[in-house]
Amino acid sequence: MQKKLLPSILNADFWKLGSLIEATLKAGADGLHMDIMDGHFVPNLTFGPSVVGNVARRVETFIDSHLMIENPSFYIPSFVENGSNAVSVHWETEKHLHRTVSLIKNLKALAGVVINPATPVEFLKEILPFVDYVLIMSVNPGFGGQKFISTSLRKIEKLKNLLVELNLEDKVAIEVDGGIKLNNVEDVLKAGADWIVVGSAIFSSSSEKEVADNTRRFKEILSKFDQ
Ligand code: DX5
Ligand code: ZN
Repeated sequence: MQKKLLPSILNADFWKLGSLIEATLKAGADGLHMDIMDGHFVPNLTFGPSVVGNVARRVETFIDSHLMIENPSFYIPSFVENGSNAVSVHWETEKHLHRTVSLIKNLKALAGVVINPATPVEFLKEILPFVDYVLIMSVNPGFGGQKFISTSLRKIEKLKNLLVELNLEDKVAIEVDGGIKLNNVEDVLKAGADWIVVGSAIFSSSSEKEVADNTRRFKEILSKFDQ
């Protein structure tokens, strides 16, 4: 499975968002991770479909929208209409997850399911045949700049083993999100991750040059793992 570096814009300097996004994409980012928060499912509020649309209309890239919101089904069409190529919903927010995953796929976007740190991988067994990717949260969702929860590595391995057991390892990507830095990204990749979300370790600075340099450092490591 092709490795992807997906910078999260959550911690970017929004005063300079356009030039910082261009800097990370020019430096090799494989797309953008959009952290959508509603202040209910998570204790923070970010942006909605219109910001995603603004970005998608300006840059040709893979847009991965991570919905940390209650009642995600209601908003999914709008996120896809505004340019999301992939939409992930939290297992913890959906009573009818198969219906929601089908909605995303019928809208011709990649469908992902997200689990919080305390939610076991095993809960996903029945939905795995229907999704394109699984997002494992390695922090409690809501904020960038948090510390990587070390038990996440074992969880990534468990998911990888489950996908192999179900013969889905070439169909379902493993995305990992939260607390990923230059000093732990290799462990995350070794555990089996395919898509790597990085927020503050790329966007901690408002300098386009530093954002580009940070991006290149992560891409160098990911390229070592590309088969
Ligand atoms: C947290 C978000 C993450 C976060 C990643 O709720 O889902 O995408 O922005 O930021 P860092 O890499 O700083 O943990
Ligand atoms: Zn995220």
